[in-house]
Amino acid sequence: MNILVTGGAGYIGSHTLIELYNAGHTAVVVDNLSNSNPEGLRRVAQIIGIQEVPFYNVDIRDRKALEQVFANNKFDACIHFAGLKAVGESVEKPWEYYENNISGTLTLVDVMRRNGCKNIIFSSSATVYGDPVEIPITEQCPKGQCTNPYGWTKSMLEQVLADIQKADPEWNVVLLRYFNPVGAHPSGRIGENPNGIPNNLMPYITQVAVGKRPELGVFGNDYPTPDGTGVRDFIHVCDLATGHVCALKAIERRCGLDIYNLGTGHGYSVLDMVHAFEKVNGVKVPYSIKPRRAGDIATCYSNPAKAEKELGWKARYGIDEMVRDSWNWQRQNPDGF
Ligand code: NAD
Ligand code: WQD
Repeated sequence: MNILVTGGAGYIGSHTLIELYNAGHTAVVVDNLSNSNPEGLRRVAQIIGIQEVPFYNVDIRDRKALEQVFANNKFDACIHFAGLKAVGESVEKPWEYYENNISGTLTLVDVMRRNGCKNIIFSSSATVYGDPVEIPITEQCPKGQCTNPYGWTKSMLEQVLADIQKADPEWNVVLLRYFNPVGAHPSGRIGENPNGIPNNLMPYITQVAVGKRPELGVFGNDYPTPDGTGVRDFIHVCDLATGHVCALKAIERRCGLDIYNLGTGHGYSVLDMVHAFEKVNGVKVPYSIKPRRAGDIATCYSNPAKAEKELGWKARYGIDEMVRDSWNWQRQNPDGF
């Protein structure tokens, strides 16, 4: 298939491009580079072994430019990663988050349908479950109250896409709810490249390990978890990437609307991650305990059985590969791209 990959220059998108090509698909990237660097796409092309990844420096809110992309290409489906994703920033700048993520997706979907492409895989998030009513979380678990505008954009866009599919059954919509993506391509050539101070745990750990930050703050050790620190379903980004290739199978069998958790089904605590990182990589990660971070929940991990049963997808990498590959990327690229 020929796939439009919005946000393909970003962290998850760039890893997904590799798996798409490995599976025999082709891809065209649309990205406005607001949170990414074209060097990532150059490295993706090297890893795949092609001259270059077709790329348009286009904002998905720019209808005219997007129309031009569709005039130049024929797409079988879109994998839609483009969006702003920083939780804390979304609390400071809610208008910007709603405008970018919601307006951008509405424009994209309209241009898609006008051009006869009604297949979309959407990057959603476990954040839509809020404080989940069941653990491990199945797709049947009701959606909950999000604690920030970023999360609401995901929750709202799930509803928007479901309603569009309901009104026009020619659409195939796959909502993928990612748990906590970490790791990097095993080559160490591409990886997560956050701007400024990282919000997420793993890039913070790697920046401490490489000496860019003095210590990790562990946000709370009084949660009702085995060691008191937060428990999450960390998933290797390469596993997440293959999840998108498998999700194309749902589109091929004309799924209508489908929702899948992409997680490993295992919960690891913040300190499990720190200790695994130190042991596997032989580096120290100094840390100190800080107060809880507002909006955090104690425990969040998936039941990924539906994706295995229906898509034949299962995470292959464990915690050791996650911490190894995160470090491999950071130590080879201490300042990112
Ligand atoms: P990322 O920031 O690395 O990638 C997103 C890409 O979208 C960036 O390259 C950015 O430049 C681009 N972009 C943003 N707004 C755009 C616009 N208006 N037009 C064109 N391009 C635009 O983020 P990521 O970690 O790769 O996440 C990809 C998707 O997965 C996002 O939608 C994110 O919300 C979602 N997601 C991420 C996580 C996570 O923890 N990383 C978890 C769950 C869901
Ligand atoms: C994980 C654990 C922190 C940083 C977020 C978004 C979610 C999704 C994934 C996009 C928690 C602890 C963290 C630090 C710490 N993104 N931590 N010190 O909060 O589970 O999920 O990213 O969709 O929507 O909310 O991930 O990596 O920020 O935190 O102790 O410096 O690590 O308290 O327990 P989170 P995270």
